[in-house]
Amino acid sequence: MKRTMVKKRLLDGRDCEKCLHAEELLRQRGVWEQIDQVIIAEEGNATSEGMVLAGRYGVEVAPFFVVQSDDGSEQIYRSVLQFLREQFPDTPSESIRESVVLSAESLAVLEQAYANRPPLEIITWALQTFGQECAIAFSGAEDVVLIEMAVRTGYPFSVFCLDTGRLHPETYQFLERVRKHYGIDISLMAPDTSALQALVKKKGLFSFYTDGHKECCGIRKVEPLKRALRSYRAWITGQRRDQSPSTRGEVLVIHPDEAFVGKEGLLVKINPLAGWTLAKVWGYIRAQELPYNPLHDRGFVSIGCEPCTRPPRPGEHERAGRWWWEEETKRECGLHIAETPTTTAS
Ligand code: ADX
Ligand code: SF4
Repeated sequence: MKRTMVKKRLLDGRDCEKCLHAEELLRQRGVWEQIDQVIIAEEGNATSEGMVLAGRYGVEVAPFFVVQSDDGSEQIYRSVLQFLREQFPDTPSESIRESVVLSAESLAVLEQAYANRPPLEIITWALQTFGQECAIAFSGAEDVVLIEMAVRTGYPFSVFCLDTGRLHPETYQFLERVRKHYGIDISLMAPDTSALQALVKKKGLFSFYTDGHKECCGIRKVEPLKRALRSYRAWITGQRRDQSPSTRGEVLVIHPDEAFVGKEGLLVKINPLAGWTLAKVWGYIRAQELPYNPLHDRGFVSIGCEPCTRPPRPGEHERAGRWWWEEETKRECGLHIAETPTTTAS
């Protein structure tokens, strides 16, 4: 067996950041010595050995890994996590702190400690502490930033998406792209069939335009979220304070979830991007070349279900296109209600 890592070297001579992170991860896990060779793909030089390999295997990301088995078959990995999982299944993949006792009081102390720390540090704490029992709630631009950072920590984590059945086709394609890009599982949570059928039978498919969105969101989002969260001890969301001064202005970085319970009762809610602005999120997405929903190129900003989302008009706030027919203070679907009402001093 021969394991090859292909790293990208940028035009300015530096190694690409993702390749450095991947190498660090392999070293941390103690498997670096089992990489037989490292080949460089030089940006802008199609004849460099790594670029030739990338062309041969049709790979457009760096780093990537080629594993040649003794029988001559070859396996390509575009994700370092998948490479680790499949090639080194016996390697301890987590260093979860044993028996962490968390209470509302200890979380308040953690919130103070992490309130102004960079998101990567907050996510590292979360995944070191909870590993796969911590799930990223995935749907939009912020959540890819969270996944990118989670991958960089090298710790295991879970991801779920609430599939309301009413998302845009572009959102489903985006979800699939993210799944493949990172080689991760994204669990899809579907609404309860009988509750959904009863609602549609009684009120049709667009009752939210006349009755308000609460009932439909309750069935398509909140109940599936409640079910999903029962498998975890903590969840990470992409909420930001500047998304909505009236409903999210007080979002904390780490706090006990007051609306939902986890597998052991107390559920920790983590909002690593609470202090980031929309511009900062997009700066990160562009700089790191992360996948994003193509609807953003058509003017959409905050994206939810297709019938309940439109692009904001010029000058409108980023969430103005969500449930636009309703009053601003009601534009929350129940995923994030009962937020802790006070912020810590910062
Ligand atoms: S919503 O409550 O109005 O729909 P928003 O779209 O602002 O929420 O997203 C805030 C965060 O909630 C996202 O970053 C994500 O963590 C979570 N979230 C929203 N919609 C979903 C969904 N369909 N599936 C999973 N998580 C979601
Ligand atoms: Fe239903 Fe609209 Fe809520 Fe989606 S956002 S669950 S379609 S009311």
